Parts: sequence; C-alpha cells; structure tokens
Amino acid sequence: MSASLATVSYIGATILFILSLGGLSNPETSRRGNVYGIVGMTIAVLATVFGPRVTMGGLPLIIGAMAIGGSVGLYAAKKVQMTQMPELVALMHSLVGFAACVVGFASYIDTSIVFTGAEKTIHEAEIYIGILIGAVTFSGSVIAFGKLSGKINGKPVLLPARHWINLAGLLIVIYFGHVFLNAETAGGGTFPLIVMTLISLAFGVHMVMAIGGADMPVVVSMLNSYSGWAAAATGFMLSNDLLIVTGALVGSSGAILSYIMCRAMNRNFVSVIAGGFGTGGGQVAKSDGAQPAGEVVPVSAVETAELLREAKNVIIIPGYGMAVAQAQHTVYEITKFLREKGVNVRFGIHPVAGRMPGHMNVLLAEAKVPYDIVMEMDEINDDFPATDVAMVIGANDIVNPAAQEDPNSPIAGMPVLEVWKAKTSIVMKRSMASGYAGVDNPLFYKDNNRMLFGDAKKMLDEVLVALHA
Ligand code: TAP
Repeated sequence: MSASLATVSYIGATILFILSLGGLSNPETSRRGNVYGIVGMTIAVLATVFGPRVTMGGLPLIIGAMAIGGSVGLYAAKKVQMTQMPELVALMHSLVGFAACVVGFASYIDTSIVFTGAEKTIHEAEIYIGILIGAVTFSGSVIAFGKLSGKINGKPVLLPARHWINLAGLLIVIYFGHVFLNAETAGGGTFPLIVMTLISLAFGVHMVMAIGGADMPVVVSMLNSYSGWAAAATGFMLSNDLLIVTGALVGSSGAILSYIMCRAMNRNFVSVIAGGFGTGGGQVAKSDGAQPAGEVVPVSAVETAELLREAKNVIIIPGYGMAVAQAQHTVYEITKFLREKGVNVRFGIHPVAGRMPGHMNVLLAEAKVPYDIVMEMDEINDDFPATDVAMVIGANDIVNPAAQEDPNSPIAGMPVLEVWKAKTSIVMKRSMASGYAGVDNPLFYKDNNRMLFGDAKKMLDEVLVALHA
C-alpha cells in the first residue's frame, strides 16, 4: 500500500472514530456508533499492517500476533458476564499501558534511525513520558482489575505519609528525566529509564490501592483516559498520526467521563485520586451520623401487584441487583402489562447505577423497553411527589436519602433518586445488606417504604403472575 493511500485511510478511520463517539452518546444511535467504530478500526489496522512501514518479512509475525491476540479477545468478550465488564475493561487498559512501555523501550534500543540535536531530545522526551504514563496505566489497571474482580480486597489501603511518598517519587522521576535527556553515551539513559519505570509501576499500584468503594468506577474511567494518553505517546514514538489522534480521543473522552461520574457522585476528582474513600463492597458499614432506626415493612409479591395495579404513575428504578438477577425481561413484561392497563410507567436511571456507565440503559434496551420512557435522573427527580409507586429493583446507593439527610455519611452530597417522595416506595432486594459503597440505607425504614425481599427475577416473576391473576 502506498504512503498516500495509507494517509487517506488514516483520515477516513479518524472521521469514523469521531462519528463512533458521537453515535455512542445516545442509546438510539449507539448501534450505528459501534458499527462506525468497527469499520474505522478495521481500516486502521489494515492500513497499518499493509502500509509502507511494514516489510514483507514482518508480516507473518504481525498476522500471527493478531491471530493470538484476536482469539484471546474474542474468547474473553464471549465469556464475560455483563456485570464483569468493568474488570475486563481494566484488564484491557493494562495491556495498552504495557504496550506503551514495550514500544518505549524498543524505540530507545532501536538504532536504525539516528536522531540528533533537538529531534533527539524530543524523541527521548516522548520515550520517557510514554513509558511513564504506560507504566502507571499498566500497574494501576492490574490492581483495579484485582479489586473489581474481588481478587484483592476492595478497601482503600492507606500508607502513612502516602502523599509524601508520592511527592518523593515524582521528584525522583523528574531528576532521572533530566539525567536521561542529558545522557552522553549511547545506552547511558538505560539506568534512569529503568528507575523511572519501577517508580511509575509502584506509583500505579499505590494510587489504585488507596482508592476503594464507590470511587472505583471513576478510577477505571480515569485509567481509560490514561490508556488513551499512553496510546497517543506511543503514536508520537512511532510517528503514527492515527495512533496520536485515536489516543487523544480516548484520553479526552475518558477524562470527560471521569468528570461526569465525579459530578454524579458529588466527588471532587482530586480527592478521588488522593484516595481513602469507601469500604469493601457488600459489607454492612454504618455512617458516622445518626443511625437509621425502626422497623422495615415487608410486602409480598401479591401485595406489590395490587399496589401497581391501583397506581396511575409508576417509576421503576433499576440498579445493580437487576443486572445480577437478569430481571430486565420480566421488568419489560410488567411494564408492558401496566402500560396496556393505562398506567404511566417510566424508568429513572442514575448515572452510576449498576457497575458501568450506561449499564441499565443497555439492559433495558436489550429487553426492548422503549427509549422514550427511560429518563435520566435529572429529568425525572422532580416527578416523585406526583408518583404513586416508586419501584426500586436491586438498587441501593443510588436511592439512599442519607446522601441528602446525613452530612456525616460517606456518600453525603451524592445526587440520588428521591424515591422516598413517592406515595409508596417498594425496594426489591434479597436482604438488608448494604450496596457498593457499604453504607446503610435509611430509605428502608421510612413509613411509606415497603421491602420485597428475594431475588429480583424470582420476585418479579411472581408479581407478573399476580398481575395476570
Ligand atoms: P448497589 O448500591 O451496589 O446495590 C445493589 C443492591 O442490589 C444490593 O444492595 C443488593 O442487596 C441487591 N441485589 C444484589 N443481587 C440481587 C438480586 N439477585 N436480586 C435482588 N437484589 C439484588 O447498586 P446501585 O444502587 O445500582 O448503585 C451502584 C453503586 O455501584 C454505586 O455506589 C456506584 O458508585 C457503584 N459503581 C458504579 C459504577 C457505574 S459507572 N455504574 C461502577 C462501579 C461501581 P442484597 O444483597 O440484599 O440483595
């Protein structure tokens, strides 16, 4: 393939990636967005593999590596459960970071192109920064994978004087950067490069170990952003314009997503990175403020069906438990039944419901719930006082009034869906266990709240039978 055809292909792929990101911003166009992304990536890979920079001798190696990598990716994507997606994503980010490190070292060792003067300094700075971002991304993502998959305890690990340790690491990295750029002899920069890599690896581990609880999704999104910048740095090292643009797109979209998530949880980005928030998922941890007290009122599936049948306005709030129970299809059947009886049924989606951005939207779309009744938190939050039944399906943190009522709560200030303002709220879950943030939920004890205990799928099946009866 000629150089000009490769350039045209790169421009085409870049446009498709931008269209893909645009498409993914809305459920109705997300399928198309995915197709644009797939076509763009296919063009990008073909233009690179068959482009002017790859010799015929190198082709079998590249094709062999692609076959192995592609098969592993295909297997992982087919096997992974929807709820395990964040950990798979974290693992994939680690590979981008690893690739940036390997490419960085290879570029440093490679003597086939000799740089002099300012070009040499720029090239070496690219290598140093590329390996630095790559190493932090690699080790941080491996730890994030360990925490999300439960292989490492999810609690934040806070070393004494951790900020000083980080500062000392940063100063050493800057010092060795200076030594690296001013190394006189060929290979004289190897030692500073290795020291910096080790410090960056340790920093990635330290940074993510210090973060826990509900802050983990922000970390995954932040590592997504880092992996983009690592790819962009690799693009600079390899003088590959497409990799620079693609990396920058991933880097900036990941940064925007991290910002949106921080806002959705009322967390400050810097304090997320500084770590120390939250406890291990699934344990009952209490906030420091007033403890919720009182009795909970359990209801049966039949009573739930009665409440739903008598309602005019219903808002369904799905959460992580709906995903675990795979209850979305039954939710759709119930919605269809109620809508046919003239009940106004809508869905309220919190930006961090479930375990990944858009988790609930994907499940509801899979179950064919119409998009126009699926509302964002901000669109629907004012409607709860005029709602007869707010049905919470396997959600906990995102409907926790302590976020508004208890200034000492670890989730104080996080925007939540105000289900307790509805005439009746029904919470479906299996026990009184806390949610991801490990915080008790005073909603359960409110006078107008009812608890429907049991697996969400099983209980909704019973509700559906009772509705039809
Ligand atoms: P959670 O607060 O985690 O609560 C989910 C609830 O579902 C649990 O309390 C659990 O209670 C219940 N549950 C689990 N399996 C169930 C089943 N089979 N049937 C019925 N109920 C079941 O979820 P949420 O309200 O969706 O909030 C999301 C949380 O995850 C937030 O803290 C958020 O910050 C965090 N997070 C979000 C993301 C993104 S980006 N969405 C990523 C990672 C983490 P029982 O055990 O009693 O059944």
